Amino acid sequence: MIIGSRDASRAQGIADDLGNGVVGRSNEDCAAQSDVVIVAVPWDGHAQLLQGLVEQLAGKVVVDCVNPLGFDKQGAFALPVPEGSAAQQAASILVQSQVVGAFHHISAVLLLDADVATIDTDVLVVGDDRAATDLVQALAARISGIRGVYAGRLRNCGQIETFTANLISINRRYKAHSGIRVTEVD
Ligand SMILES: NC(=O)c1ccc[n+]([C@@H]2O[C@H](COP(=O)([O-])OP(=O)(O)OC[C@H]3O[C@@H](n4cnc5c(N)ncnc54)[C@H](OP(=O)(O)O)[C@@H]3O)[C@@H](O)[C@H]2O)c1
Repeated sequence: MIIGSRDASRAQGIADDLGNGVVGRSNEDCAAQSDVVIVAVPWDGHAQLLQGLVEQLAGKVVVDCVNPLGFDKQGAFALPVPEGSAAQQAASILVQSQVVGAFHHISAVLLLDADVATIDTDVLVVGDDRAATDLVQALAARISGIRGVYAGRLRNCGQIETFTANLISINRRYKAHSGIRVTEVD
């Protein structure tokens, strides 16, 4: 597994902390050397980052988990996105990649916590290419407790991204790392 950063040495430092064979690279090298790439950067830097990685990401599955949210005294709220969603913006830039939206609601805190053995949530997966969404569902299912559930085409990613604002409100009120479960689906 490769962690990308704008600063390769910063990525390597984090990779060293994580161990387990993880390596750190510049974002460009990470994208070029990977088959499946997860984009997890703040909304502010999303378009600019991807515009610089078009060639490196061509032919790859790109998983976008970016939530275009603002924050004020009342909490989190959805920001307007001309393309409809962050994932659709990614697809409009990465025209030679298979863009999939997923992992928007998973808490990084839980993922990083070595004492958390299992995470009780579904991951909603959206995209326009069946092979790519199947792959990302399988990737999600490798995390104990998690199920990847197909949730529609990429044009349906906006409400998944903005729903994160509701989950953040739930987390604040109930002091939780909340997730979602889809019922009646095997
Ligand atoms: N945190 C969560 O639990 C969580 C869960 C689901 C989805 N998300 C989504 O994942 C994204 C990242 O969240 P995060 O909490 O990981 O945020 P973060 O810690 O602020 O950002 C992650 C990394 O993005 C890079 N970055 C920061 N600004 C950038 C810019 N302008 N251009 C390019 N790269 C930049 C930084 O790495 P370098 O400085 O090393 O380049 C930073 O370490 C967000 O869109 C969020 O909505 C977060």
